[in-house]
Amino acid sequence: NIEQKVDSVLALMNLEEKIGQLVQYASGGDLTGPESSRGNKEKASKIKKGLVGSLLNVATVKEVREAQELAMQSRIKIPLIFGYDVIHGFKTMFPIPLGESASWDLEIMKQSAKIAAKEAAASGLNWTFAPMLDVARDARWGRVMEGGGEDPYLNAVIGVARIKGFQGEDLSNKNTIAACAKHFAGYGFAEAGREYSTVNIGENELHNTILPPFKAAAKAGVATFMNAFNDIDGIPATGHKILQRDILKEGWNWNGFIVSDWGSIGELVDHGFAKDKKEAAIIALNAGSDMDMESHSYGAHLASLLEENKVSLANLDDAVRRILRVKFQLGLFDNPFKYCDEEREKNEIYTKEHLAIARDVAKKSIVLLKNENNILPISKNVKSIAVIGPFADDKNQPLGNWRAKATYNSAVSLLEGVKEKVDKNTKIYYEKGVELTIPTVKPGDNQFMIPLKMNTEDRSGIAKAVAAAKKAEIVFLAIGEDAYQSGEGRSYTNIGFAGLQNELLEAVYEVNKNIVLVLSNGRPMDISHASEILPGILVTWHLGSESGIAIADVLFGDYNPSGKLPVSFPRNVGQVPLYYNQKNTGRPYSDIHVTYAGYDDSKKTALYPFGFGLSYTSFSYNNLKVDKETINADGKIILSVDVKNTGKVAGEEVVQLYIRDLVASIVRPIKELKGFEKIMLQAGETKTVSFTIDKEVLQFYTSNKKWEVEAGEFLLFVGGNSTTKLKRKITVE
Ligand code: IFM
Repeated sequence: NIEQKVDSVLALMNLEEKIGQLVQYASGGDLTGPESSRGNKEKASKIKKGLVGSLLNVATVKEVREAQELAMQSRIKIPLIFGYDVIHGFKTMFPIPLGESASWDLEIMKQSAKIAAKEAAASGLNWTFAPMLDVARDARWGRVMEGGGEDPYLNAVIGVARIKGFQGEDLSNKNTIAACAKHFAGYGFAEAGREYSTVNIGENELHNTILPPFKAAAKAGVATFMNAFNDIDGIPATGHKILQRDILKEGWNWNGFIVSDWGSIGELVDHGFAKDKKEAAIIALNAGSDMDMESHSYGAHLASLLEENKVSLANLDDAVRRILRVKFQLGLFDNPFKYCDEEREKNEIYTKEHLAIARDVAKKSIVLLKNENNILPISKNVKSIAVIGPFADDKNQPLGNWRAKATYNSAVSLLEGVKEKVDKNTKIYYEKGVELTIPTVKPGDNQFMIPLKMNTEDRSGIAKAVAAAKKAEIVFLAIGEDAYQSGEGRSYTNIGFAGLQNELLEAVYEVNKNIVLVLSNGRPMDISHASEILPGILVTWHLGSESGIAIADVLFGDYNPSGKLPVSFPRNVGQVPLYYNQKNTGRPYSDIHVTYAGYDDSKKTALYPFGFGLSYTSFSYNNLKVDKETINADGKIILSVDVKNTGKVAGEEVVQLYIRDLVASIVRPIKELKGFEKIMLQAGETKTVSFTIDKEVLQFYTSNKKWEVEAGEFLLFVGGNSTTKLKRKITVE
């Protein structure tokens, strides 16, 4: 049994070795190779002495093997665990997580995580720093792209699907890797969307909005957690004992380990929460941070802190135990080189099967926002198409940010996808129109954190784009965001079209009104003006390796779009943070005074709401009923609705359940998503969808500081997006 094995290894370890398990170093290939040419001799020699527990950013079987061999020279030969940011694929790229979340298809999200895990494991890795479970409601925050959007329930179920995909049934299987629920907690609520900024939330928001996805992850058996850079109401997450020890480890009875975010233990000093790294080490260990990612605080100070009785051996042992447990679960003690198989690395990465699934996930992630006069789908016999825009023939942007080991320029571009679909007589005119950015890095460089410079001067391509648009029956306008405009360190105050893209749009629109906007984006953007004038809008995120062909599947009707927004699209940046599940306020509605409804100069509602997405068919919702109207707190009600495909083609619909607790001990949101089901309906077909309304659905973290169901009236809403008005009332006695 694993616990006995952990104890027996712990009993062999001296203090230095125990502290070593808590140390995680990064390496960009400088740990291995001949000793004479090794870039980082100090790290390598520490590994050999058993003073390092983990490495991040070492990938490929060769590098992992060489580093693990160093660890095997140590006294008790504890294997290293190798972590990497496998966020939406390893080499076969899937849509960015926010995009994939728009599929509302838990099975395919599990599948994409499973493939990402298989490829990462074939390349020597055994741990990913994913999924990100931060509820994110501020489109300015760059990391919106990495999560499941604005809703706690959606983030929770998607998180669990991804964790199951990464970890499988059995962590010791060579195709699975440990997952990491991050960032614990609150990072998505960074003030004004400013990266790494302070988080000011109360207990209600913490428990009812931020923590549910993490609680679900812990319950699903996620192997690790990562804490966060931000403070919450003055306490940095990395030094937050209530969060890490009291809530996660004790409250939820979770036995994995917590890794810090990069340098975040050391950053307790920058927060002004510790006077130096030594004090930071005390605070972080006592608060329950088990592994120090690259801040060098634990390695440098824990030994003397133990001597000085500033940290306890019990806390150190607890952290070591947690780390050893995961290493045992992964099977690394049985075979430290278990993930080091060159044959697998050659044959099991970027396979045809993986790409086929990437295409499937990509097409299911696309959201159709506008389709005036059924401009879509386009006939494959169309006489002429102009494919215009900086992303029209871009094979790189679809790979998105956090692209792990994706090959530069390896995605299918929109132009390539379109060419593959149309009749041989169709004329295709391609023009880039404008460059979005002025390249500051060479192709293939890691653009992580390098500031992007927007092109605001070179208009030389616009005239050519106009000429192309003039000749074509229809224009596909591929504009939006560069892959590196979202992700870590990519907060923006402008969430509209950067650079000269608006000018391009206007110029093309002057000569051809038949435009479908093919939006590339890592966040909900301000597309208000485009949405007012253009007849067609497809949200295509950064869709991964098979992007262009998946988009073409939708444009030409080979796939009927079924995606729904996991985030509200605002009318303007001034509306954010924007989310459907707001509270009512004391002055919710007024026809007399517009500010009651939000602002003097803007509506309060989203341009496109959470849960919204069109199809090439239409659906009606009828016969919403409950099997009873009154229950007690432990009872259950079955709510059912008939959903009919009222159009001419088969299509999928995401049937969504929302609730509202009308009167409660704390103010509750006007609507909360509590369930959904994605169904396929043939033209004319009707299906009955049922939801169970029970304690799970009705409870919340109440003023008693407990999860409970409060007596009173609840509204149950069902529909195809968060603005649905179809409802029934029930009473809990
Ligand atoms: O996993 C990431 C984290 O999300 C942000 N900081 C760096 C970590 C490791 O790359």
